[in-house]
Amino acid sequence: MTESFHFASDNYASVHPEVFAAMHAADGGHDVAYGADATTAAFDEAIAATFGDGAVGFPVFNGTGANVVSLMALSPRWGGVVASEHAHIHNDENGAPERVGGLKILELPAPDGRIDVASLDRYAGDLGDEHRAQPLVLSLTQATEVGTVYSPEDLRVVVERAHQLGMRVHVDGARLANAAAALGVGLKEAAGGADVLSFGGTKNGAMLGEAVVILADDLRESLGHDLPYLRKQTMQLGSKMRYVSAQLHALLTATDAHGTPLWQRNAAHANAMATYLREELEPLAAGAGLKFTQATEANAVFVEMPRTLAARLRETYRFYDWKPGSTPESTEVRLMCSWDTPVEAVDGLVALIDEATSA
Ligand SMILES: Cc1ncc(COP(=O)(O)O)c(C=O)c1O
Repeated sequence: MTESFHFASDNYASVHPEVFAAMHAADGGHDVAYGADATTAAFDEAIAATFGDGAVGFPVFNGTGANVVSLMALSPRWGGVVASEHAHIHNDENGAPERVGGLKILELPAPDGRIDVASLDRYAGDLGDEHRAQPLVLSLTQATEVGTVYSPEDLRVVVERAHQLGMRVHVDGARLANAAAALGVGLKEAAGGADVLSFGGTKNGAMLGEAVVILADDLRESLGHDLPYLRKQTMQLGSKMRYVSAQLHALLTATDAHGTPLWQRNAAHANAMATYLREELEPLAAGAGLKFTQATEANAVFVEMPRTLAARLRETYRFYDWKPGSTPESTEVRLMCSWDTPVEAVDGLVALIDEATSA
């Protein structure tokens, strides 16, 4: 197959060879279905080693599933989920938390993707009011949908305040690896004091697979009991689970000669490509009419550009419009890098912009 590379999504990326190797290693012969297999036992150990003794992981198929199962586990039927205006659970899951989980999303402004602690009080007055969805869960995204990252200190403050306000905290970690690599910390630290985590594998080099991880000590028993039922009811229970577990296990434990785990190598590369792209675009910005709209802290560059330029670039590369630009002639686009983005693709995109605007 001819290889091509795009900037549309880290889901466009291929499967990392070490992930394939782990699936092959798990292959052959029979093993018990639905998670009682040796590979899932190894995954369980890797989750405890990564997130702390007692952390329990439940492999699922996709990120929407991980989020819906997590939120349903954390909230009673009358609960609302406080989330940022950019949240994937709010904008990009076709209402699954509402329709499948019966949970209203309560939006908070977050221009740079991060929820500010001061805004958390917005729904506090609704607690105890039977007419209002009860704000009982806060969902944060790390790294955020717009490519920014909560620092461990930001997270600590937000999580602490949410807990004070009676909310449990969920972290959508579809790109947790990118956040951890950007911060130079482990996955556990990047998830802050979250109670439940959607741990992402797909964007980090897996074929498919994420996990719901219970982190809070005091929820382990109750949610540990509920989650298997919720996962099955929401159609996220894989019968041949060993193949999902093998992928996540590889991301968590497969090390290179320097002892660096695969999640970190993959995320660091994706982040480095986005940083490089940003650095290469900066000097062209004035001439090309580019306006950066977000800081580049993980693996994405958000930039406003003339629609004519975007159309020209799309003759070669795919990428998404994020929202309309500040003028009718412009569009804000998301340029996403992934574990397999080659330097040549970045150079190619930059050269096209240079060519198109210096002609
Ligand atoms: C922030 C975030 N959460 C979750 C997901 C998972 O989505 P999916 O259900 O497509 O795996 C994505 C994928 O784009 C995402 O960007």
